[in-house]
Amino acid sequence: MKKNKISKNWIREQHKDIYVKKSRSIGYRSRSAFKLIELNDKFHFLKKKTFIIDLGSSPGGWSQVASEIAIQGKVISIDKKEMDKIENVDFLQGDFSDEVFQEKIKDKFSNKVDVIISDMAADTTGNKSLDCIRTNSLCIEAISFSRSILVDDGTLVSKIFMGDEFNEVRELANKIFKKVGFYKPSSSKDFSKETYIHCKGLKSL
Ligand SMILES: C[S@@+](CC[C@H](N)C(=O)[O-])C[C@H]1O[C@@H](n2cnc3c(N)ncnc32)[C@H](O)[C@@H]1O
Repeated sequence: MKKNKISKNWIREQHKDIYVKKSRSIGYRSRSAFKLIELNDKFHFLKKKTFIIDLGSSPGGWSQVASEIAIQGKVISIDKKEMDKIENVDFLQGDFSDEVFQEKIKDKFSNKVDVIISDMAADTTGNKSLDCIRTNSLCIEAISFSRSILVDDGTLVSKIFMGDEFNEVRELANKIFKKVGFYKPSSSKDFSKETYIHCKGLKSL
């Protein structure tokens, strides 16, 4: 399919999509905001005093939702792209896959954090299997990072794609966390391979 035909189809789909309409009327920057709302309705991890790291935050829908709930907590948002300012949200721009940058994130918190949410998705290449592998490796990095920065009963919620590495991700999560589950919000498009992993409570080493 030609590129301008794809973008016309994309624009038509955006007009029909109820979550796009809803996000515009509420003022959320992305339809993804509703995925976090649904995930939180299911697993109840965001509270008034929660300290949160939002990985892959731009344009900012998840950070908006997190900061609306955690009014006495703290939200630090991370993305390699820029993100416009959100009140009560600190933003750090950088590549999460860079270990030096991960240390910089840890330095932002004097204590451990309650929740890590990750909606990181690798840039699409046109090769669906490769995109899936790259996004799932970001999920693996988020799980490994959680071990050193989450409180003992902390929560990690991360995007994961249904693909060959799915079992590898699940096994790693099961090694590190006491409880591991999966949930695909209804606001996640049916045709998308995306789902979310919910991990709770670090196992003692
Ligand atoms: C689906 S979007 C996130 C949408 C966001 N949750 C929202 O509600 O607006 C995925 C984001 O992951 C970011 N990302 C991908 N790889 C990354 C990396 N290595 N480090 C930091 N951010 C990354 C992308 O730049 C992109 O903004």
